[in-house]
Parts: sequence; structure tokens; C-alpha cells
Amino acid sequence: MAPLLEIRNLNIAFPAQTENGSGKPPTLHAVRDLSLALAPGEVLGLVGESGSGKSLTSLAIMRLLPPQALVSGEIVFIEHGSPRNLRALDDESMRQMRGSRIAMIFQEPMTALNPVMRVGDQIAETLLAHHAISKREAHDRAVEAMSDVAIPDPARRARDYPHQLSGGMRQRVMIAMAIVNRPQLLIADEPTTALDVTIQAQILDLLAELRQKFKLAMLFISHDFAVVSQVADRVAVVYAGTLVELGAKNEIFSHAAHPYTRGLLRAVPDLTTDRSHPLETIAGTVPSLQAPPPGCAFEPRCELRVEECSRALPPLIEVSAGHWARCPVANS
Ligand SMILES: Nc1ncnc2c1ncn2[C@@H]1O[C@H](COP(=O)(O)OP(=O)(O)OP(=O)(O)O)[C@@H](O)[C@H]1O
Ligand code: SF4
Ligand SMILES: [Mg+2]
Repeated sequence: MAPLLEIRNLNIAFPAQTENGSGKPPTLHAVRDLSLALAPGEVLGLVGESGSGKSLTSLAIMRLLPPQALVSGEIVFIEHGSPRNLRALDDESMRQMRGSRIAMIFQEPMTALNPVMRVGDQIAETLLAHHAISKREAHDRAVEAMSDVAIPDPARRARDYPHQLSGGMRQRVMIAMAIVNRPQLLIADEPTTALDVTIQAQILDLLAELRQKFKLAMLFISHDFAVVSQVADRVAVVYAGTLVELGAKNEIFSHAAHPYTRGLLRAVPDLTTDRSHPLETIAGTVPSLQAPPPGCAFEPRCELRVEECSRALPPLIEVSAGHWARCPVANS
């Protein structure tokens, strides 16, 4: 099947604020040579620690990166069989794309909601930005979207301001706003991280339901493997801005092929975990993005490293059908 979204060799860097000894500012390499594809209706989980480049990747797709970001590579959205290079679209075409074909939800809905506008009006506004419909119709469709995301008594709740809603209900409003124009792709950046566990489970169930109902593809971003395992079909693991492993969720969970992924999985608690012992962690720290190691980014922390690992970035190797890992040593 033709993909819906293809990211090809994406690089995102930032000129550093401070000068180094030579007077030449070191560049911060936040995302390096990242390639990913997403099929229509598929949920791809993007997992990695804080600072690994997950949010920047999603902002690059939406073309919402800060202006100082240095970007290269291609981001192609395939609409009715015709590829559109998002990085080359004019601003108006990109504005149309955003919100109607590709929508995004964030970790903290308060930052994306207008505090002084009724939530129903905010959802209606999203519709009016993309459709020539009456205010009345937009309002009715906004209430319908609130019902789609299981907000009880949506007609009454539509008149509430964001602060009158709980965190979980606010996230539902954000999701209603994101799906009201029936996008094909939803980018969800840590959508449940700020919520308590019960509400988190409800939002994950809701996303799974909406995905089926509206045949939504989703790029689901999280630092939490356990959360990703509940929603994703495939998983992409990023480390210090590089893609280190990619494959079907079950394959990654049962046969992780990259030492970093294995370490992350050992740190995920399950029902059999002995709570009297601390969970395993990966020794060492993430390398500086201003001077990343010339070879494998995980090399300074890797127990399996050999001399070649520090020479050049290892290639992604297909360890089984559709399962890729950037580690020749663990897979030789
Ligand atoms: N505007 C910016 N200027 C300079 N560096 C930035 C900027 N935005 C992000 N970075 C750096 O790029 C790296 C990746 O950031 P990003 O926000 O994508 O991480 P993340 O994987 O989403 O992390 P988290 O899990 O904490 O949300 C980080 O080291 C961050 O400090
Ligand atoms: S390439 Fe080398 S350093 Fe990198 S994960 Fe594999 S063994 Fe470890
Ligand atoms: Mg982030």
C-alpha cells in the first residue's frame, strides 16, 4: 500500500547560542538523517527519552519549527495518490493542510486552548477555517465532535470555558478539535503524559476507538514504552536524534534488536515486576547533541560496543521482514 506520510533523511539542527573557543558556534544536531513512513490508518509509536528529537520531528511535519531551525530532507504527504512535499508548499497550502489533513494534539491542552473562548466556539472556529459553512452548522458539528469524543452532555459543555473542565475533558476537547475536520493523520505528542493513570487509560481507549471509526493514521509520540504498546501497530525508537530501531510492535517487544531498545524495555515495569527492587536503568548519559559521537550515538553507554562502533554511524539493518535496527554487532 502506498504510504500516507514519508519522511526522508530529515535533519534538524540549531545554531548554538554560545561561541566556542574557535569563535565558530557549535551546531546542535537535534535530528539526524531520520527516515520513516506511515501507512493510511496505521498507528506508529515514536519512542525515545527526553531530548531525543520526537517533538521536533512532529513540528517539522506540521511546519511549525522555530524559524532558526536548520532543516533538510523531505516530508511527503500522499493525498489521493499524489505526493505533496510539505516542505515546498506555499504558506496558504500548508495552512489548509494543517488542521484539515494533518492535525496535532499536545501534552498540555491548556497551552493550545484559548482560555477566554467557549470550547464549542473554539471547535467551531477550526471548522470555519476550512469550510464555507454557517456558524449555526459549525456549532452543531462542534457539538457532534464533542459527542464523538464522549464528552457527556456536549451541548451544555460546549458553552464552558477551558478552566471549567477537568484535565481529561480538556484533552477530549483538543481531540475533538483535531478530528472535527476529519484529518487523515493525527500527530499525538505525549497526549496522556500530564494525566493521571485512570484518565490516561480512558484517553488511550478513546484514541483507539476514533482511529477505527475515522480510519485515522496516527503518529503517537511518547517516552513511555508501556503507553505506546497500547496503541501502536509499529514502533520507531529514537536515540539522540537518530532512528535506532523500527518494526512491528510485537516484534520489537519480543525480539528487540538494538541494545538501547533492550535497555528501555528492561526499564518498563509489568505485573510480574518485583517492586522491592529498583527497575533497571541504562548506565551513562545521552551524548551532547552539539558534539555527537562520530559513530553509533549509543556507543558510550553500550555494553556490546566494539572498536568499529565509534568510526561511523552504523547503517540500519533489516533483521527480519520489516524490522530494522541500527546495530550490526547485536545482529551479526
Ligand atoms: N528552539 C530550539 N533551539 C535549540 N535547541 C532546541 C530547540 N528546540 C529543541 N531543541 C533541542 O533539540 C533536542 C530535541 O528536542 P525535542 O523537543 O524534539 O525532544 P523530545 O524528544 O520531544 O523530548 P521530550 O520527551 O522532553 O518532549 C533537545 O535537546 C532540545 O533541547
Ligand atoms: S553499533 Fe555498537 S555501540 Fe552501537 S548499539 Fe550496536 S554494539 Fe552498541
Ligand atoms: Mg517532546
